[in-house]
Amino acid sequence: MADIVEMIREDHDLIRRLLRDLQDRPEARDIRYMTLRRELQTHMHAEETTVYRRLASDITDDVAEFLEEHNRMRELIGRLDTTSLEDEAWPRYLADLHDYVDSHFDREEDLLLKRVRDLLSQVERYEMYEQFQMEKGVMAQYTG
Ligand SMILES: [Fe+2]
Ligand SMILES: [Fe+2]
Repeated sequence: MADIVEMIREDHDLIRRLLRDLQDRPEARDIRYMTLRRELQTHMHAEETTVYRRLASDITDDVAEFLEEHNRMRELIGRLDTTSLEDEAWPRYLADLHDYVDSHFDREEDLLLKRVRDLLSQVERYEMYEQFQMEKGVMAQYTG
């Protein structure tokens, strides 16, 4: 049965791969940056409206910290958006986002996903998987 834990891990792996590619291969950076941006934004939105919302009363402080980290990631995306791809600072800003995303994902996988497994039944995890997919679809309509 499809499971929210697997879904989030797959998203994380995809986004990690997009970040690595973008750093290692400067060609077609514009298109690949837009893909990364869309995947990351839709991922954050879907997490906030499903897992974070569900666990907010169980692990309140952790969820608040994860939310702050999302907001920091949005700021780092904003900095890339407003910097020309030709600017020599761009790769440095991308590396900052990469580091930040890596540590956020590691923490989620260690802490958040473990709590999801402890607290949610298999049926709930399946329902959350479906809701997560739906939220991603909604968000993708608003993200260029
Ligand atoms: Fe997250
Ligand atoms: Fe995540």
